[in-house]
Amino acid sequence: MFESPRAYHLAVSRVLYHDQMRRILLLFSIVLLAQAAEPDHVERLLAELSEAYGPIGFEGPVRAIMRRELTPYVARFETDGLGSLIAVAPASDAAAPRVMLAAHMDELSLLVKHITPEGFVKFLPVGGWLDLALVNQRFVILTRKGPVTGLCALKTPHIMSSEERSRIPRRDSLFIDVGATSRQDAEERLGIRPGDPIAPQSRFEKLNGGNLYLGKAWDDRAGLAVIVEVMRRLKQAPAPCSVYAVATAQEEVGVRGAKTASYLVKPDIGINLEGGVAADHPGITADEAQERIGGGPGMFLHDSFMLPNVKLRDFILDTAKARGIPVQFEILSGYGEDGAEMQRAYGGAPSINLTVPTRYMHNHNGIISRADFDRTVELVTEVIRRMDSATVKRLKTFD
Ligand code: CO
Repeated sequence: MFESPRAYHLAVSRVLYHDQMRRILLLFSIVLLAQAAEPDHVERLLAELSEAYGPIGFEGPVRAIMRRELTPYVARFETDGLGSLIAVAPASDAAAPRVMLAAHMDELSLLVKHITPEGFVKFLPVGGWLDLALVNQRFVILTRKGPVTGLCALKTPHIMSSEERSRIPRRDSLFIDVGATSRQDAEERLGIRPGDPIAPQSRFEKLNGGNLYLGKAWDDRAGLAVIVEVMRRLKQAPAPCSVYAVATAQEEVGVRGAKTASYLVKPDIGINLEGGVAADHPGITADEAQERIGGGPGMFLHDSFMLPNVKLRDFILDTAKARGIPVQFEILSGYGEDGAEMQRAYGGAPSINLTVPTRYMHNHNGIISRADFDRTVELVTEVIRRMDSATVKRLKTFD
């Protein structure tokens, strides 16, 4: 078969060489795959923000993350009297317009009302909860002694009538089981006090290897992460305006922190980042909400608190078009957002609410798309880079 021993030798070494190359290629692709599966800094930030506890009025853990993340990109921090964090990246020109970027730190939460003699914790839901979303979920009570895990209990169906089985328990019948043996045990050993905040507990997960993220509090931790990424990009190529990146407190109980922060910032332009209502799952129609996951950033054209400034709307849409970013619209009759307070502070400022579309908001778990997140970052960054004095003057002028 082989003409000579030398030819045989050559053939064998060729096979061996190919085999070796195959092994190297295989190893190389394993390394590449491992790298692809490794979360990048955005994914890690989203995971950390999502899992952080930020009950309404007790936003400290989220504020600490935002302060740490924004430190490299801003000149100074302030806080308002409610705990909103105001991070300032001033323009070199002191007369440059002030653009306020906002997203809220708080999430739907509960407060300890009282403890029963048997050691069960009765609570008050704070913010727009469904009774349905409270039952049989894990919560964490943030006490002076540290976090206490508990379960919002649900009676077993074994002892229910058929009528009771299909009924949703009322919120005032619910309680949290923290494994205490008595009220004294809950108070003294676990440190639980009336008024202690209670946050939902939910783990972040990349959903089945795709580009969707599953976790809690995307409303509005996704918005906060957008702000961090926008500020990171603006640091590389500064904007012609001063940027006030604000992480607001107590949005879920009537945009309270946005009000106090807006009065400190006195914005010329307000851009608020929020969770949008994704309507792309069974049981929801376009008459109720219009965004879908993966369709790009959303823009609120109406909610119960505000109408956006029309010139600002068009300016953002033109910017999106120039960059090839699709934008979705949202017209809701409910909902209220921080943009409303920026819009009304002092003499009023052109403002708008932009969103990262979110499925299943105001529950223990929601879903967002990484592609939507990235496009929102790109759009907001580009809009701010175009906010020079002449543009802002034009946007603020009527007739
Ligand atoms: Co929100």
